[in-house]
Amino acid sequence: MNDVIFSSRALSQTQVLGRLVFEDDLDSEGRPLGLKGKKGRFTACTSPAEAHISPLPPECFFALVLVGAGRRADLTRDVLRDVTAAFVRHCLDLSLVHIALQLPDAEGNTSQLAEAESCSIAVGTLAGNYRFDRYLSPERRSVRACLESFTLLGGDEGGLEQGKTVGSSLAFAKDLCNEPGNVLNPVTFAEAAERLAHSFGLDCTIYDEKEMAGYGMNALLSVGRGSAVPPRLVHLVYRPEGPVRRRVTLVGKGVTFDSGGLCVKTRENIKTMKHDKSGACVVLGALRAAAALRLPVELHGIAGLVENMPDGGAYRPDDIIRAMNGKTIEIQNTDAEGRLVLADLLTFASRLAPDAIIDIATLTGSAIHALGKYTAALVSDDDALSKSLEAAARTTGERFHRFRMDDSLLREGLKGLHADLRQSSPDGGGTLIGGMFLREFVGEGIPWAHLDIAATGWYDKEFGVYSQGASAYGMKTLVAYISQIY
Ligand code: BES
Ligand code: ZN
Ligand code: ZN
Repeated sequence: MNDVIFSSRALSQTQVLGRLVFEDDLDSEGRPLGLKGKKGRFTACTSPAEAHISPLPPECFFALVLVGAGRRADLTRDVLRDVTAAFVRHCLDLSLVHIALQLPDAEGNTSQLAEAESCSIAVGTLAGNYRFDRYLSPERRSVRACLESFTLLGGDEGGLEQGKTVGSSLAFAKDLCNEPGNVLNPVTFAEAAERLAHSFGLDCTIYDEKEMAGYGMNALLSVGRGSAVPPRLVHLVYRPEGPVRRRVTLVGKGVTFDSGGLCVKTRENIKTMKHDKSGACVVLGALRAAAALRLPVELHGIAGLVENMPDGGAYRPDDIIRAMNGKTIEIQNTDAEGRLVLADLLTFASRLAPDAIIDIATLTGSAIHALGKYTAALVSDDDALSKSLEAAARTTGERFHRFRMDDSLLREGLKGLHADLRQSSPDGGGTLIGGMFLREFVGEGIPWAHLDIAATGWYDKEFGVYSQGASAYGMKTLVAYISQIY
């Protein structure tokens, strides 16, 4: 994707100016705009009078479009992000690549838009411009034009710059996640992490299967035994130049393809399983953003990269595996591989003794049953960490529902027959049980939260800021959390 130029002042090449209008705005005759103000509606104007713009900005624009934004009282940063993404898509479909937007608050007065709103709009702009088209032939690729410049009249330059960093890191994470399993496997993913580290000045250590065996990471290694490609562990570190206020570790599930292993998935459920590396992609994206924004936090990113495949070497149900922290696990279902990968990553992360550990994973299909496709799960017993993550999520348009792990009867279901733990329980509550299993591998006293993005990591349809395919859900929340904790 080309680099989009962001500006808060009109550019001479601007081809189209959008103006937000609301259902309850009044037209020149005093009637409510109604339909024209409906969210998702675009109305091309033939004259400035029709656009109700007075005075018209002195620059000469090619076209004027009314951008419906719903009810004025409902205008939030989420609406701004969604409406901007839709407006950008609308313009690109018309081959307009130099786009401007004017906000109602900036009209007629000089008050600057809040930095935060400009940031959201820039994120929405890059989301609307996002597509994963590197494997399309040129004819199909050029159907939708690529955005070249975006002007936010009255916007805040700093906010736009921040939004550009978050938006481009999100696109980076989605690009990585949309790569198919035949291209991005544990080894090539680790190489991509190395390239990212090089470009953004991150420390990067890659552990191969022998080194992981040395650490006793048998849970993670077991998952990879049926694959032709060996597992990798990536440890990235972003160290700020100034004083370090906090040390945070992000941990991501990076199953580059989840076939289910010997408990192979059905032909329906196996579809889209290239995105089972979402957590790892989000972790890389968050480190990219933190480094580019120069946040004063020491941030570690740990990604466990492994492919879950069936073959003669594959791990099997009933196997008993000793994880890195010494606990033994009885395998129930080779499709519940994510928690095995995370188990050893959490032990590894705990030994870094950070101030907080947050793991992110497409862990359980039951998250879809519990919460639907538009809300992710936050499983944590730490109130302070949960509250910070929830507050961060509220600024990003991402939704998380918190689960606490206080149900000791449910926990009983994780007792193994011939081992310390069994991998899953027969008593339901799959998403919560996933968290309870992971808790066994987190060091005493370390604040920890588990984010399950199985429901929200992939969308079959385009809507709001989301395109078809990987969403990198949770990356914005993690970046917002890291930005606010200092
Ligand atoms: N990767 C899947 C979870 C998933 C499902 C992610 C749908 C995205 C969309 C995970 O490894 C898995 O298969 N989990 C099992 C666990 C069960 C066997 C305890 C599941 O959810 O069915
Ligand atoms: Zn699985
Ligand atoms: Zn999986």
